[in-house]
Amino acid sequence: MTTSITPLKQLAAWKALEAHFATISNTPLRQLFAEDPTRGERLNSEAVGIFLDYSKHRITDETLKLFFQLAEESGLSAKIEAMFRGDKINITENRAVLHTALRAPRSASILVDGADVVPPVHEVLDKMAKFADSIRSGSWTGYTGKPIRNIVNIGIGGSDLGPVMAYEALRHYSIRELNFRFVSNVDGTDFAEAVHDLDAEETLFIISSKTFTTLETMTNAHSARVWALAKLKEHAAVAKHFVAVSTNAAEVSKFGIDTANMFGFWDWVGGRYSMDSAIGLSTMVAVGPDGFRELLAGFHEMDEHFRTTPFEKNLPVLMGLLTVWYNNFFDAQTVAVLPYDQYLKRFPAYLQQLNMESNGKHVTLDGRTTDYQTGPIIWGEPGTNGQHSFYQLIHQGTKLIPCDFIGFYKSLNPLGHHHNFLMSNVFAQAEALAFGKTAEQVHAEGTADWLVPHRTFEGNRPSSVILAEKMTPATLGKLVALYEHSVFVQGTIWQIDSFDQWGVELGKVLAQRIIPELESAEEPVLKHDSSTNALIKRYREHKRK
Ligand code: F6P
Repeated sequence: MTTSITPLKQLAAWKALEAHFATISNTPLRQLFAEDPTRGERLNSEAVGIFLDYSKHRITDETLKLFFQLAEESGLSAKIEAMFRGDKINITENRAVLHTALRAPRSASILVDGADVVPPVHEVLDKMAKFADSIRSGSWTGYTGKPIRNIVNIGIGGSDLGPVMAYEALRHYSIRELNFRFVSNVDGTDFAEAVHDLDAEETLFIISSKTFTTLETMTNAHSARVWALAKLKEHAAVAKHFVAVSTNAAEVSKFGIDTANMFGFWDWVGGRYSMDSAIGLSTMVAVGPDGFRELLAGFHEMDEHFRTTPFEKNLPVLMGLLTVWYNNFFDAQTVAVLPYDQYLKRFPAYLQQLNMESNGKHVTLDGRTTDYQTGPIIWGEPGTNGQHSFYQLIHQGTKLIPCDFIGFYKSLNPLGHHHNFLMSNVFAQAEALAFGKTAEQVHAEGTADWLVPHRTFEGNRPSSVILAEKMTPATLGKLVALYEHSVFVQGTIWQIDSFDQWGVELGKVLAQRIIPELESAEEPVLKHDSSTNALIKRYREHKRK
């Protein structure tokens, strides 16, 4: 536990923000824009090729000034330095938080417990590159001599969501001769459907698990071994069809994978921050070592921007503080992330773990219960699909939902008017949310009186627009790092440990207790609450029928 921290609500800037909120909370964006014709050109920031328009937020220059003051009073600059330096800022697990070291250049030096972590990072990257090249070139063959055509990543949480998201995002750059599949769910359907049309002789499994003890991953990994050996027969085939990504060499060899075919990482890499560690092995096989290094370079550019840029122009700082503004002052419960790029279809799901596992906490670093809200619920779908399902609620519902629109100037698949149509929707949705359509406007269109309220849009719904040139490995790295650091900014303001995840433990422990109760031949003596007892009994009865 750290020494006591001044509670958030007692900070001078927080109190000033409360007073300020009372003065502007009802000011419509229409008015803010009318009063300042330069607002749309002024309230933005561009760095490392990422442009952020934050003019359609319910803020004034005063709001920003107070938030920068809050960031200072919260010690954000020192916290950023502490993270990059390798201090053990994950206090409940006594760990450094150094995903930024995974993308540091070879020339960098970062010490953890007196040892430089940069050389081992590059050793692993070099080993991954050799492996990826051998798969891509066909020189790594399966046990029966056939080249590998299918890569199946088995992992869950951070050992799955990053690899899936990155594979989808970078599909344009990926080797088309290889099939990539991702298995995460302990539901046997996930594994069965992933392999049903694959030939074991041509299939390589990457077992990705930081701990190598996760129930879902190990269950799927054992089923994969049974499936592969049913065709390949010899146990020696495992060495040609299974590799591991893990920090746990002992468990990897216990499973039967030669540790020569293991790609390591370190306890200072959190699961949800691991897509650019060896957990990205499937990404590297897909896009090649050069593509992967481009991805890392993109991450690093955003890291440097975050570390060195004054708050006023700092993209992750601006985004993080805006999230706090709506979460804590407007009582917004969620943030919608809306990528207008099909390649980013898994980005919202990736961000769910990044944000919600990081900032879904209610105890501060010094052990108090927060008397304010912390991490918002993250959700979203790629545009324009969402427009035809849930946007109705964002436009006219009763909830305030800040939105992040993400779009690109250029499409990787230019096709007639598609891209202009796509991007026109980004700009139109942000405009409609902010400015709506008044009753007078609806009336003037000749709408019957009784219908006017239904067709009126009150507007005043905030959004950010994030733009970049086009989807590339480097762009993806910059976008992910942007959100990683925004999450860090939010956690710093809320005074929580954004890097532990104790909240996932209890369910895991209880499931371990229930497994034998579902599987035992004898009727078990159930000692749960009456609801859980009844559910287990019912399941056993119906399973038997
Ligand atoms: O769900 C909790 C969690 O520990 C995540 O933080 C992590 O990404 C995931 O499980 C998978 O863990 P592992 O890589 O150890 O299998």
